[in-house]
Order: sequence, then structure tokens, then C-alpha cells
Amino acid sequence: MIEIRGNVAGESAADAVVLGVGADRALDDAGRWIAERMPRLERLMDEAEFTGKSGQSLSIAGSGDIPYTRVVFVGLGPAPDAEQLRRAAGTGARLLPRAATVATTLHSVPVDGAAEAVGLGFTLGAYTFTRHKSEPKPSLISTLVLLDADEAIVEEGRRGQTIATGVNLARDLINTPAIEKAPEALAEVARGIADRVGLRIRVLDEAEIVTERLGGLRGVSLGSVNPPRLVELRYEPKGAKAFVAFVGKGIVFDSGGLSIKPADGMETMKTDMSGAAAVFGAMQVIAELGLPVKVLGIAPLTENMPSGSAMRPGDVLEIRNGKTIEVLNTDAEGRLVLADGLSLAVEEQPDLIVDIATLTGSCKVALGEKIAGLFGGDEPAALVSGAAAAAGERVWRLPMPDDYRKIIDSEIADMKNSTGSKWGGAITAALLLKEFVGEVPWVHLDIAGPARATDAEHYIPKGATGFGVRTLVEVAKRLSVR
Ligand code: BES
Ligand code: MN
Ligand code: ZN
Repeated sequence: MIEIRGNVAGESAADAVVLGVGADRALDDAGRWIAERMPRLERLMDEAEFTGKSGQSLSIAGSGDIPYTRVVFVGLGPAPDAEQLRRAAGTGARLLPRAATVATTLHSVPVDGAAEAVGLGFTLGAYTFTRHKSEPKPSLISTLVLLDADEAIVEEGRRGQTIATGVNLARDLINTPAIEKAPEALAEVARGIADRVGLRIRVLDEAEIVTERLGGLRGVSLGSVNPPRLVELRYEPKGAKAFVAFVGKGIVFDSGGLSIKPADGMETMKTDMSGAAAVFGAMQVIAELGLPVKVLGIAPLTENMPSGSAMRPGDVLEIRNGKTIEVLNTDAEGRLVLADGLSLAVEEQPDLIVDIATLTGSCKVALGEKIAGLFGGDEPAALVSGAAAAAGERVWRLPMPDDYRKIIDSEIADMKNSTGSKWGGAITAALLLKEFVGEVPWVHLDIAGPARATDAEHYIPKGATGFGVRTLVEVAKRLSVR
């Protein structure tokens, strides 16, 4: 865990410093101080064509009487906002894996929440997943010094770090190979989080999943030797202003089941529990921040495997709320387990349900790898979209047209889990989920695209992104001040 602090009086040295640069090479005081002592800086910037445009960065060795071994300049563009600062801090952390103590002035850029953005971006950018390397080279950063910051600013930076630590927890769980995260193991991780931050937890085992009539979760689990679990985490602070439920898809590995995926489609399917990971990460952060809002987190956990005991195309499953689904494609498994999770959430009548799932390849086709699909009624959709934008996660609302509902009509059950059509798959999946939310305000986030990053950039590493944690935390924040 990186220590965030202000500089102590008289302290002037650090291994490295990260400085923001505005458009047309506008330097801040610290930048000018360094420029005066580094006569060749101007030429280095010319050679690198570094002007301070957003997205640019320049890492150079400190020289002369500069008390830093390395200086990183990050372009902020003409009108920096919180996201620019998150990215700049993340870029700084990613460019400085060998520096133990890093100083910065980014928190002094005049933007609301600058220090939170810097604490968050820096902690996210320093993330590495090296557990399986025999010679791990994790980031060596141990301290972030916010130059000339008072205690309130440092506290704000630490709040950003608290959020980022929840994101990094989700990233760790998602990056973990499926062989190490059977449902039982993941439920134990949830238990550890609950113990650490003070959440109530209930874990249903395979027998209880049957007696509680979670037919979707049970059906998907039938092909796996690893038994399913359903995790419920509860955060119930005194004086809660609202009650929100989060439901996260927790497929620890999605082979497709008997409707098996091609080999290349399976390579990244350990990621298919990203929704559950986001719920775990968000619950940890919400408890640590002590937000005055009641939160229920539900994660149906199972593996989707083919075997002699697996569910078959044509099977009919009865979900917790009594509705039935004909399984035409065993690879459309996420909606089956979410149907049970949503049914459980609705029984508690929260003010809002948000589900989050790597649900459809179709959503990734529609919106690409960086933007999540968002579905829901006008009011809850506006609340969650606003929260996502403030948190720096990109979502785009997609429609749930009534006249598309008949596309999922089944001959023999209440609905079918796959349409056989290649059109509008993210929408038909959302329409199926809608059957399980009753009258409770609800938003569905399809994170099939942004759950993983193909390439690293700013505060995002290659692989698991932890997408959704920040949005869920911000939703809880917004509900707590209504
Ligand atoms: N987990 C996948 C969706 C997915 C695909 C997430 C690619 C991330 C990247 C989901 O369970 C799935 O297989 N969906 C199918 C549904 C289809 C069979 C109706 C899909 O999208 O192809
Ligand atoms: Mn699938
Ligand atoms: Zn899946």
C-alpha cells in the first residue's frame, strides 16, 4: 500500500517528481523552478515534441542541482478536468516503476476533487499483477508526496486511494486464473473482505442453492466439478439515507458449457466474474468510507463447463421468482444466474438495484472495448450515468424497446435465453433481466467490453481493469446525500 503524505518541513528530495504541464508548455511553480535549474529542458521538450497536450508525457533524468533522479512531465491540455488528473497521475506512476518516493504537484491544479483524482489515479497506475512470475518486478513505489498539501488535501488524496484499492482488489480477483478461484475460494475471499471491513455475509452452498430455488444458478453449475456459491454481503450503517442492491455476475470461468466456445473465445473467460469482483470491491470501499447508505451485494458464483452432468440446450430452468427459462444456448449463462440474483434483491425492496455483468459479446461489438452498455428507466439511468461520468467510467445508454420482448418468447417456457439471431443481443439479454426486477428501479451495466483492456494506457493496465467499482461507489455516494 502506497503511503500518501505531505512533505515535511525542510524535506526537499524524492526519487522522482511528476509535474502537470498545460497547453503550450505552461509550467507550474515547481516546473519553472526545475526549468531554471535544467538549461537543457527546453531542448529535450522540443526534441520530444512535448507541448503539454493531453495524453503526452516525457520522462527525463534529473540533472544539475535538481533533487530528483527522474522528472516526469505529463500533458494536461488547455482545460484540465478530474479525469485528466487521474490519467496524469496514473501515467506518472506507470512511468516510474523503480522510484520509491514520488513527489507531485498535480493536486494543486485548480479542479474540484484534484487530490482525490491524484490519489486514485496514482494508486491505479502503480498496479501490477506479478503473483505468477518467478521473478516478479512489481512497482517499487512506496510513498506519494503531495507537495505543499495541508492535512485536508492529504486526506482527500487518501480517499481517492481507498477507492483505487477497491478497484485493485477487483483487478486482482479478475486476473487470478480460474484454477485458483473456484466459487468456494471466491466466497472465502468475500468472507475475508467482510471480516476486514465489517460487513455481514451469508454464503449459500450448493444444497442451499437448491432449497432456496435458485434454479438458474444451479442449472449453470451442473457441468462443473466445482460446486456453486451465492454470496450476500450487507453493509447496514446507522442513519442510512437509502437502500441500494448490487448484483454481480460471477462466472469464474465461461467455457460456454455444451454450447462450447471456440478456443480463442475462451482465452479471457476467467474475466467473466468481473461483475462480482466489482461488487466486492465497491462494498469494501463503501464500508471503508463509511457512507450512510444501506447496501446489499449479491454475487452468484459458478463455473460454466461442459460435461456429462451439464445442462443441455432445450432444458428448462425455474428461477427463484417462479418464472421459467428455456436454455437454447448454454453459453448465454450470465442471464440465468443474474435472474436468481435479481429475484433475491427484489425481495428486499431496495430503492435501486444495479446489476453489473460481462454479459454479451454483442455489447462489445456495439460500444467497443472502453464503454459499457447501460440499460434502465429514465430516472435510475440518469442517476447511474451521472455517477459513472463523475467517477471517470464511460457508459452509454441503450434502449429496451417493448416490441423486442417477443423476440425472447419461448414455445414451452416463459422466455428463452438465446434468440438464435445475431442482432441486438445486448438488448435481448437486458430484456430478459427486466423480467426479474419487478417494480424496483433498476439499472443493468453490460461491461463485456471495458472489463478488460487490450493495451495499457494512463491508469489502466493491460488485463483486468476493475471497471464498475468506481461507478458503484459513486452511486452509493449520491444516494447517501439525497
Ligand atoms: N461471457 C460471455 C460474454 C462475453 C463475451 C464477455 C466476450 C466478454 C467478452 C457471455 O456469457 C456469452 O457467452 N454471451 C453470448 C450470448 C449468446 C450465446 C446469446 C455472446 O455474447 O456471444
Ligand atoms: Mn457465456
Ligand atoms: Zn459469460
